Amino acid sequence: MAGVPQITLNDGTSIPQLGLGVWQVDPGITARVVRDGIAAGYRLIDTAEGYDNEKGVGEAIRSAEVPREDLYIASKLRNGAHQRDLALKAFDETMQKLGIEQLDLFLIHWPVPGQDKYAEAWATLVELRQQGRVKSIGVSNFNEDHLDRIIEETGVVPVINQIELHPYFPQLEQRGWLKRRNVQIECYSPLGSGAVLEDEAIAAIGKAHGKSVAQTILRWHLQQGLIVIPKSTHADRMKANFDVVDFELSDDEMATLSGLGKGEDGRTGSNPATNNDTF
Ligand code: A2P
Repeated sequence: MAGVPQITLNDGTSIPQLGLGVWQVDPGITARVVRDGIAAGYRLIDTAEGYDNEKGVGEAIRSAEVPREDLYIASKLRNGAHQRDLALKAFDETMQKLGIEQLDLFLIHWPVPGQDKYAEAWATLVELRQQGRVKSIGVSNFNEDHLDRIIEETGVVPVINQIELHPYFPQLEQRGWLKRRNVQIECYSPLGSGAVLEDEAIAAIGKAHGKSVAQTILRWHLQQGLIVIPKSTHADRMKANFDVVDFELSDDEMATLSGLGKGEDGRTGSNPATNNDTF
């Protein structure tokens, strides 16, 4: 796996630290994008029911030149399916679209506090794991109160919380309470959905290493032990984003990137406390 480290999760399994995210990848090109990603060396593929492109991910898995067991496939439960019966059905649909026997990781996509059903969704994911249909279970976009509630109700700690995290939105407070609960952080929009790519301070640091802004940002994630899933539809960019294990940022350079946070203004996606979309 070309030097990408594995991160050990709190259930004893491990996940590649760098993967390909397919949020906002058009369903019509997803199979090609994921095939290009696998060819570039990516083994972790992160999709979701809500992205509407699980079928394309499934096609790519079937035609991949690497065996299924070398791939780590993750998907997410959609917001409108938190009720137990709907969650079980939604999971079946995900598996059918992906065309695989067992999923590596299934996450609750958003807590949807207005709906207040995420604890029921979590209990259902615990069942699916007990049945062996999914290896690991986790959450996405959970705040501390959401996380504590599901742990209290089930006694099961998610392996991962997938959240927006990049130099403009470094989520320093989230990191503290997630670390204390032994929950790994998986970073979506690691390039700020493109918003951080024009940053001149990062460009200057990258230049000193012969690396691009995107590569420098992803290196910053990796050096902090964060799991990271950049998205690109371009094979050359996917390759470049994967080529980040052969250089090291100094402490000063890391601190410069870490100092670029813009507070709530740095967020590019929705706020989990108020996002009540029920797709
Ligand atoms: P594209 O898919 O056209 O390559 P994030 O991972 O933070 O969501 O960022 C994804 C955005 O950044 C997409 O718009 C993607 O565009 C762009 N992108 C990803 N990798 C690179 C790269 N190496 N250079 C420039 N843009 C990139």
